[in-house]
Amino acid sequence: MRDALADTERRLAAAGIETPRVDAEWLVAHVLGVSRSDVHAHDELDGSALESLVARREHREPLAYVLGDWGFRRLTLKTDARALVPRPETEVLVERALALIRGEPAPSVLDVGVGSGAIALAIADEHPGARVVGVDTSTDALGLARENADRLGLGVELRAAGLEAAAEGWDLVVANPPYVRPSEWERLQPEIREWEPRAALVGEGVHEALARVARTARLVMEVGDGQARQVASAFAEVGYGDIRITADLAGRERVVEGRKA
Ligand SMILES: C[S@@+](CC[C@H](N)C(=O)[O-])C[C@H]1O[C@@H](n2cnc3c(N)ncnc32)[C@H](O)[C@@H]1O
Repeated sequence: MRDALADTERRLAAAGIETPRVDAEWLVAHVLGVSRSDVHAHDELDGSALESLVARREHREPLAYVLGDWGFRRLTLKTDARALVPRPETEVLVERALALIRGEPAPSVLDVGVGSGAIALAIADEHPGARVVGVDTSTDALGLARENADRLGLGVELRAAGLEAAAEGWDLVVANPPYVRPSEWERLQPEIREWEPRAALVGEGVHEALARVARTARLVMEVGDGQARQVASAFAEVGYGDIRITADLAGRERVVEGRKA
């Protein structure tokens, strides 16, 4: 097992992966069926099962797709190429969304661009009275979100729709919309550029368009690094107050929220 771990780390480093040791431990843990911290308690492992996983990761397939599931807040979500891998900064978005509906017994919540279901399902899990709807223009993403909802036994409504769903009237609209500028595409890591759905990533002006169309008491969105001030201005222009920007764990301004009377 120790040799397999060292060999995997060496191969992943040679493939240009920035965290070869951690990734090697995740892959070995997956094959052993144990947590990462328990890897070192084992001597033997199935080399052929590990080989297929390492080969996929060497091709820069995201670790979350290779493992097939990924932790997000209190949930373990199925992850594959139908939708974006849930990111840690999106956990901060969920934190703010939950704060905005705290104390309300049955708020109506819309997640625009539901993807794997990460945000909608985390809100349904952590605010049990909420009536949560998730929409996406990608039928692939909706299929994955449905599987996640069923696996977790969480009741969220999922529909094929775009930004117009936000005009129906909600207590809270939450979104992590596509915000990578087309000019930034070539600079993205291969894991993102070559494996995650482009339509989930690339978008310009989606925050502003959603702020204009939404009819909601509270609005909260994730933004790209450096976009928060501009999105906050767009919220103010269409009448939101109590505007607040929240930083992620790395100190980057990544979440913008506002309220309407
Ligand atoms: C950045 S991903 C976010 C996925 C998920 N909410 C998360 O945070 O992991 C954006 C999602 O928005 C969807 N999308 C893109 N344009 C859209 C639109 N106009 N209306 C609804 N969904 C859209 C994409 O298909 C994708 O699933």
